[in-house]
Amino acid sequence: MTILVTGGAGYIGSHTCVELLNTGYDVVVVDNLCNSKEEVLHRVKKITGKELKFYKVDLVNKAELTEVFRKEKIDAVIHFAGLKAVGESVSKPLEYYYNNITGTLILCEVMMEFGVYNIVFSSSATVYGNPATVPIREDFPLSATNPYGRTKLMLEEIFRDLYQSDRRWNIVMLRYFNPIGAHKTGLIGEDPKGIPNNIAPYITQVAVGKLDILGVFGDDYDTPDGSGVRDYIHVVDLSIGHVKAIEHIQHNPGIVVYNLGTGKGYSVFDLIKAFSKACRKDIPYVIKPRRVGDIAACYAEPSLARKELHWSAQRDLDEMCEDAWRWQSNYPNGYQNDKEIL
Ligand code: NAD
Ligand code: WQD
Repeated sequence: MTILVTGGAGYIGSHTCVELLNTGYDVVVVDNLCNSKEEVLHRVKKITGKELKFYKVDLVNKAELTEVFRKEKIDAVIHFAGLKAVGESVSKPLEYYYNNITGTLILCEVMMEFGVYNIVFSSSATVYGNPATVPIREDFPLSATNPYGRTKLMLEEIFRDLYQSDRRWNIVMLRYFNPIGAHKTGLIGEDPKGIPNNIAPYITQVAVGKLDILGVFGDDYDTPDGSGVRDYIHVVDLSIGHVKAIEHIQHNPGIVVYNLGTGKGYSVFDLIKAFSKACRKDIPYVIKPRRVGDIAACYAEPSLARKELHWSAQRDLDEMCEDAWRWQSNYPNGYQNDKEIL
C-alpha cells in the first residue's frame, strides 16, 4: 500500500515517514521544501534502511501534482503540507490562505481525478480557540483567533462539505496538541527557521548556547504555578497516531476527528525543569508579559482516539525532553549540520 505524504520533509511529516516505512508501507513524499530540507529524507532512509520517493512539488502547482499521481499508484494521503507560524499568519494572511487552502483544494481535486478518496489531515488544537474548560473534547465549540487557525477551521469545514457531496471520501482529521521531541536516534528533529516561536525549540537553543535566555510569557495565569499549561506530545507518538489513522481509514468509511494529545497538562516551569534534567544544565529564564493571543490552559481529552483508533501516547515528558536534547546537541544547526555523526 502506497501512502502519499504531503509535507513529508517537515518536522511531523519526516517522523511519520519513519513510522510508515517501519510498518511496511511504501512512501511517496511531496514537499516544496519551503520550510524543510531534502537532507531529512536521507536521514529517514538511514533510520529505516528503506527507500522512499521524493517529488519537490508545490501543492498549488496542479500540473506537477497530477504528474506525481500519474507516476505513482497512491492508495491514501497524509496531508501535512502547510504554513504553520501563528504570528506570521497575522502579517501575511493572504499567503496563509493561498498556501493552506488552495494547496488543499488542488490536492483534493487531483485525488478525485485519480480515484483516491482516503485522506488524513493535520488539524490542530488551535481550532478550539480559548476553551471554556479543560480537558478538551472533540465536540467542544470551535473558533479561531488568527489566520493560521482559521485555515485549519475552514479546511475542516471544507472536508465535511466534500464528504457530504461524495460518500466515497474517507477522512480522518487529527487535532494535534503541542508536538515536541525527536526521533530516538537523534538524526531527525525539529529545525525551525530563525528564532523559534514555539517553546521547545527555544529552550533547546538556549541549552545549546544559540540563544541567551528564555522569556516565560506570563506567570499570572489561573494555573497551578501561574504559567501557561499545554499538552506536550512526543512527535513519535503523534506519528504513530497517523499510522493508526491509515489503518482505521481502510476499515471505517466516513469522516471523523480525533484529538492527538496525552491528556496531561504541563506548565512552562514544568517544561523548563524537565529540560534542565535532560540536558543537565540550568535553563536561564526571565518572566515576560503574557503573549497576545495565548490562553491559560489547553490539554486534550484523548479517550476517543484510544477507543476508536486504538492509539494512546506512550512517551512521557522526560523522554520528550531527552530526545529533543539528543537531536539539538547532535545537530546544533539542524540539517545544516556542522558535525557528521552518522
Ligand atoms: P513543518 O513546517 O515542519 O512541515 C510542513 C511541510 O510542508 C514543510 O516541509 C514545508 O516545506 C511543506 N509545505 C508547506 N507548504 C507546501 C506546499 N504548498 N506544497 C508542498 N509542500 C509544502 O510543520 P510541522 O510542524 O511538521 O507541521 C505539519 C502540519 O501539522 C502542518 O499542517 C501544521 O499546521 C500542523 N500542525 C503542527 C503543529 C506543530 O506545533 N508543529 C501543531 C498542530 C498542527
Ligand atoms: C507553549 C507555551 C507560551 C514560547 C502553538 C500554536 C498552535 C499549535 C502549537 C499549530 C505557552 C509559552 C512560548 C516562549 C513561553 N501549532 N512560551 N516562551 O502557543 O501552545 O501553540 O503551537 O497548530 O496553533 O499556537 O505553543 O510552544 O508557542 O507555547 O513562555 O518563548 O509556552 O506562552 O504557554 P502554543 P508554544
